Amino acid sequence: MTTPLVVLISGTGSTLQALLAAAREPRAPFHVAAVIADRDAAGLGFARAEGIPTEIVRLRDHPDRETWDRALAAAVAAHDPELVVLAGFMKLLGAPLLETYGGRILNTHPALLPSFPGAHGVRDALAHGVKITGATVIDVDAGVDTGRILAQAAVAVAEDDTEETLHARIKQVEQPLLVEVVRRRCLG
Ligand code: GRF
Repeated sequence: MTTPLVVLISGTGSTLQALLAAAREPRAPFHVAAVIADRDAAGLGFARAEGIPTEIVRLRDHPDRETWDRALAAAVAAHDPELVVLAGFMKLLGAPLLETYGGRILNTHPALLPSFPGAHGVRDALAHGVKITGATVIDVDAGVDTGRILAQAAVAVAEDDTEETLHARIKQVEQPLLVEVVRRRCLG
């Protein structure tokens, strides 16, 4: 049996797709046991297409943030993952997930941390005028992109880059980087 992952997403799911593709390879050391989103994320379709269980745990369906945190943690725990991977999940994790899965939650960020943390890493790097940016894979802690840095890859900023073109090039290095960190973690 390979290592079970639960992947959390909020968006288009191209990062999830990279994980799913890697999991389909012969001798892949992991499989995606479930995909959970905080909204009706387009990326859920990639999981459904492979018959992988999906669930949406919306903040607005819960009376407060703490209740949502507990519901999200319960949804994850139902699949008993060894690793939790945030693949474009746009919310901070609360105590219930961090306490249960501390040290076993990975996140990927589209900038070279500790520069440009937060929800707009690509836009902020571009606005600052950096010539090199990239992607960072971290261990998740309670802060905003403050966890231990596990791997990084650099991307040169082009003169005519927009947030979209730059983010697309970052994703090209970010996805293999994340897959490699997950593979290494699963292989011990
Ligand atoms: C990735 O660049 C991730 O680092 C950022 O959001 C993007 C997710 O893209 N937080 P997608 O939804 O996987 O296409």
